[in-house]
Amino acid sequence: MSVQPFNLTEIGSLASQIGASAPACKDIPSSSSSALRVAPKAYSGSLDKYASFKVTPNIGLEFSNLPLASLTDQQIEDLSILISQHNVVVIRGAHLTPQQLLDIGRKIATPKGTLHIHPITAEIPGRSELDELTVVSNEIVYGGENAPASDGWHSDISFEPNPSSYAALQIVQGPDAGGDTQFSSGYAAYDRLSKPLQRFLETLNGENDGNAFHEVANKSNIKIREKRGAANVGTDLRSVHPLVRTNPVTGWKSLYVSKAFTKRIVELPKSESDLLLNFLFNHIAQGFDFSTRVKWNPGDIAFWDNRSTYHAATKDFDESILRRGIRVVPLGERPYLDPASVSKSEAVKAVKDAKL
Ligand SMILES: [Fe+2]
Repeated sequence: MSVQPFNLTEIGSLASQIGASAPACKDIPSSSSSALRVAPKAYSGSLDKYASFKVTPNIGLEFSNLPLASLTDQQIEDLSILISQHNVVVIRGAHLTPQQLLDIGRKIATPKGTLHIHPITAEIPGRSELDELTVVSNEIVYGGENAPASDGWHSDISFEPNPSSYAALQIVQGPDAGGDTQFSSGYAAYDRLSKPLQRFLETLNGENDGNAFHEVANKSNIKIREKRGAANVGTDLRSVHPLVRTNPVTGWKSLYVSKAFTKRIVELPKSESDLLLNFLFNHIAQGFDFSTRVKWNPGDIAFWDNRSTYHAATKDFDESILRRGIRVVPLGERPYLDPASVSKSEAVKAVKDAKL
């Protein structure tokens, strides 16, 4: 079965009809005040020859046999577009080496080549090339041992000024059953809210706080990394970002808030901020119709778009079983809300209406 992308070329050409914008083009003046800040990217079809299927209507795409290590630059560009459109793309049996994972991470980073160094990455003398490779392991416990799994919903490193665009995780070893990762769509989380609430949220910003990593660093006798890529510097792991952001690859709005990192809404007093954040955290946790669950086999890779996707670990297996993976986290733009952008459902509906 061929890949089922959203036709962004069509969405772009319809943009002026729905109040959004047209993609940049030398034949079209780009001075329109309704132009999107960044034109959506169009999928070229270069991955259609590889079998894939949509995991659910709202989120997830899976390939069984995609030769990741030998993809052309065009195919990697298309892969990044599919990740942004479907939130999470799983490639079964990839078995990349750490260097291959680093290479593909650098190619889908924006700007190309910029990968995150996690604040609690231990420095290994003479092996600085490993700084940008995160080892994910159940040997490191970040939260309360009995905390519900839904407390763990997050978008990677949203506490940074330049958070992650994409992330890629390859599981190397793990339990036969359990240790799945849950993913949820920020596009759908935004789409499911009422218009008045959507408009209100678009006026607000959240403070994302990762300073809990200082505690982990102290316990592990690790010094917090102060240079973590792009504008991510210093020891105060906090950043303010819009609660609704525009994904520059798709041009769609996404809710950008997570229980793990978003601690307050800066424009509201604490009582109102707590109430609204708790509503949004529950809204995401209860959205099982716009989430999907990835069951891992060693060698599988999942790519996700952290600008528009939440994820959470499932700690349901015996703690004596070692679960390990390697991860790269390409960095992206500073989050922004483009007033000319539209929701995913509005963009898809505009394409359908135009075909009638
Ligand atoms: Fe994560």
